[in-house]
Amino acid sequence: MKKPYVFITRKLSEQIVSSLKEKYDVNMWEHESTPVPRETLLNEVKKATALITMLSEKIDEELLEAGRNLQVVANLAVGYDNIDVQAATKKGIAICNTPDVLTDTTADLTFALLMATARRIIEAAEVVKKGEWKSWSPFLLAGHDIHHKTIGIVGMGSIGEAVAKRAKGFDMNILYHNRSRKPEAEKSLGAKYCSFEDLIQQADFIVCLTPLTPDTKKLFNREAFNKMKKSAIFINASRGPVVDEKALYEALVEGEIAAAGLDVFETEPIGADHPLLSLQNVVALPHIGSATRETREAMMQLCVENVDRVLSGKSPKTLVNKAWEKQKV
Ligand code: GLV
Ligand code: GLV
Repeated sequence: MKKPYVFITRKLSEQIVSSLKEKYDVNMWEHESTPVPRETLLNEVKKATALITMLSEKIDEELLEAGRNLQVVANLAVGYDNIDVQAATKKGIAICNTPDVLTDTTADLTFALLMATARRIIEAAEVVKKGEWKSWSPFLLAGHDIHHKTIGIVGMGSIGEAVAKRAKGFDMNILYHNRSRKPEAEKSLGAKYCSFEDLIQQADFIVCLTPLTPDTKKLFNREAFNKMKKSAIFINASRGPVVDEKALYEALVEGEIAAAGLDVFETEPIGADHPLLSLQNVVALPHIGSATRETREAMMQLCVENVDRVLSGKSPKTLVNKAWEKQKV
């Protein structure tokens, strides 16, 4: 019997993928740093029973339609805004993501970005490397304190809670905004729930960790930045389109807020000539929230397990479209 065909849209660890190869006909896009072209993916999906995808691929209705035999799409990310989940559910395709395994790693990076932005770490390191350090001086690269300040977390999912835990270690006052209250975090971390309006007005650090949905698109617009303290530092480690980048640029240039640390952008990769990158008070990273060897391997492993489970008639470990399960029975 012909083995089910699994297509992986990026070159992943051979060792992790080898377990799939025992049971399935597996093919991987051969490059690690360039995405598979749309045309190639459209061709591959015609034969595929399963896909392992990256957030750089648009898994839309056209692609799902072309996947006549497609049973499961396992996305190597916790976010899945690159996938038309509704269309997949209609077609009986399971969508899986990689939550939990990346929570602490992403929280570490988010806090590192907050610290780098507040304490001007990147700028400071450049000064030394370029030989521009002339003498110790009282206000040389003076930044902003972190300890005992107020952090406002927008999007209190697992990663938000893990960031709050780190903030507690820095004696920060913790505010959060989320669709639902988090009584556990309120109790154990002393996090205070507040409205979006109150949070952005009161926080010294506004940390965006909310998923991208039609409701959160451009949530951080000109009006929001104007309401923040002039000393506020804005951190985004979720998705670029949650921010109106033009508004952010203007707020930074006009001194409406003090600085921004960004791991994600409206368009990725962001062009080197993007106005935001010309600003000294912007720390920009190439979407590396979950990028440690250990965590990326755990994410790959989870994708592989999810694919194997669905193709073996079992429920995946981390299913996005719960309605898929109901259809199955
Ligand atoms: C990365 O941004 C992810 O969603 O895992
Ligand atoms: C700084 O290094 C200090 O000693 O204050």
